[in-house]
Amino acid sequence: MKTIVTMGRGGTGKTTFVALMARYLIEKKHTPILLVDIDPDQNLAEMVGVDLDAAGTKTISELLSETFIQDGGTTLGVPPSQRIETRIWEQGLFESEGFDLLAIGTRWVEGCYCLPDAALKSALGSITRQYQFVLIDSPAGLEHLNRKIAGSVDTIVDIIGPSSKSFHHVKRAYRLVREVGIRCRRFVTIGGFAFPENLGTRAMNETGLEYLGKIQEDPLVAEYVLSGRSLLDVPKSSPAFLSVGRIVERIVHDQ
Ligand SMILES: Nc1ncnc2c1ncn2[C@@H]1O[C@H](COP(=O)(O)OP(=O)(O)O)[C@@H](O)[C@H]1O
Ligand SMILES: [Mg+2]
Repeated sequence: MKTIVTMGRGGTGKTTFVALMARYLIEKKHTPILLVDIDPDQNLAEMVGVDLDAAGTKTISELLSETFIQDGGTTLGVPPSQRIETRIWEQGLFESEGFDLLAIGTRWVEGCYCLPDAALKSALGSITRQYQFVLIDSPAGLEHLNRKIAGSVDTIVDIIGPSSKSFHHVKRAYRLVREVGIRCRRFVTIGGFAFPENLGTRAMNETGLEYLGKIQEDPLVAEYVLSGRSLLDVPKSSPAFLSVGRIVERIVHDQ
């Protein structure tokens, strides 16, 4: 099982990348896959054509508020993350042919995401199904790194945006990953769809990290996202999809 975490500043194309990566892995029969959306402004489900409400799947935040607030449960005694763990796998897992999906969700009443993150961390620590890949889509900030949702990761992919701030983001993210002790075999960068093609070398020089290529810009992908269509249905000829496929090959096969 390989865990791949996607990071980057807001709007760099993280969620789109995760969805297209899922499409590629499904096509290559690297299944089953678990998709994990830890962004409270969740939209990974929508990008892969899943309506969690319609499917009757609850987000982790919903399960927490049901368990501890609506049901009058108390957070005393058994650690809450443990109590919620079984419920996450029973009611919070969307299951389908090629992939399953878990989402942290938005409806958490308390401001801090420590509890939902802890619950997710505990659930991910007890995966029983044999996933070939776990793909984690992160929010824009870096504070979630402190909560170490995944303690051990195969590859972290940081998407570089078009601004020089993006280089700083990469460097800070890399430093933080080491500081908080997330075990990660590889930390790589890729260029987002708005990243100038010719800056790949600069990305490598400035960050000192591997650069695996750039996600091509594709108006059709933008249109799919805008209209809420599943990115699992983009044509195989989509430049964005093809470029993601090349990047995934490097993630999976390069050492
Ligand atoms: N390869 C691409 N080509 C064109 N537009 C893209 C591409 N990837 C993402 N976008 C657009 O950029 C916006 C942000 O993408 P998103 O994946 O939600 O970013 P993030 O998750 O990093 O915030 C979306 O509106 C999407 O349509
Ligand atoms: Mg996103």
